[in-house]
Amino acid sequence: MTTVRTLQPNDARAVVERIVHQLSDDARRRPLVNAHLDGEVLYETILHATTSTWVAFDDGTVVGHLYGAVLGDPTHALAAWTGPDGASFDDADVLTQLVRDASASWRRAGAAQHFSWTLDDDEHIDPWRSLGYEPLSVRGVMKLLERDVRALPAGLSLRAARPADIDQVLELDHVIDVAQGEPGAVSRKDRHAIRRELLELLEDPEVKHYVVEGDGNVLAQAITFPLPARRGSFDETLHLSEVVVHPSVQGHGVASAMIDAVLDDARREGYHYVEAQWRVTNEQASSFWPRYGLAPTYVRLARSLT
Ligand SMILES: CC(C)(COP(=O)(O)OP(=O)(O)OC[C@H]1O[C@@H](n2cnc3c(N)ncnc32)[C@H](O)[C@@H]1OP(=O)(O)O)[C@@H](O)C(=O)NCCC(=O)NCCS
Repeated sequence: MTTVRTLQPNDARAVVERIVHQLSDDARRRPLVNAHLDGEVLYETILHATTSTWVAFDDGTVVGHLYGAVLGDPTHALAAWTGPDGASFDDADVLTQLVRDASASWRRAGAAQHFSWTLDDDEHIDPWRSLGYEPLSVRGVMKLLERDVRALPAGLSLRAARPADIDQVLELDHVIDVAQGEPGAVSRKDRHAIRRELLELLEDPEVKHYVVEGDGNVLAQAITFPLPARRGSFDETLHLSEVVVHPSVQGHGVASAMIDAVLDDARREGYHYVEAQWRVTNEQASSFWPRYGLAPTYVRLARSLT
């Protein structure tokens, strides 16, 4: 019979072993997953997460684990988060019991949703799906190799964004929201906050904000920054975000040429990989990124806790 309880220090070694095994299995199936992890660091981390890690046992043997950190900020409701190393289970019944016990605790902590990253294939997704989880977004990765940089259509040029671009950049952000199915009206207060955030980004030496200009108008943008260390990703990975092309010039190779140039810059600066994330419901992004060369690695699943 399977039993579940929160982690005790003498379970930690068995859980670390499961995570090491799982990550190397993920990397075997998806070579753009980085299997490297420091077992000792992970062991210490787990010992500090005893109340947010659940462990399943069968006859005294560990058969699964589930870690979920309840996080939130002023703009996002509280949610429980599980990374690619946060769950392992020998079968779907083990996952069911882990999720049942953990969800009760997350609800008590005020979380309204649970997000869990898992390898992007049916074998990994199906046990979650049977519990009501649905894919929300995909993480795609590409190795940066020297390649030809395609030219932008005539009359368009790439440059760094400037504070004076801010209003046109805000309009492009709205195009992303619409593509992601979040066209919600932005209040004046939000607009002020977003303007401030964008202006701060321009000051951040780690962030690069590229725009494509044509006829004095900002027609496309991409924002890049070094991806912070995270499980499953390689060091020296560039994170590419807020990629958007104005609807009036979509489908003419603007994004392809802009990203070619951005990634050429990144490769010369010493980056080895690029990552981007897109919503599974965003048809343009779901078609564009894999065709551009980004291979899906992990998918973020979501389930309501209310
Ligand atoms: C995704 C997006 C950035 C692509 O921009 P784009 O400039 O239209 O992209 P490209 O023109 O380079 O490629 C788009 C398509 O046109 C085709 N294409 C490329 N060059 C072309 C050309 N010269 N002539 C005709 N078609 C061309 C490509 O094959 C591509 O097909 P695909 O989407 O099936 O892969 C754009 O659709 C967009 O801004 N969407 C809304 C915002 C968004 O979803 N952003 C991503 C958030 S993760």
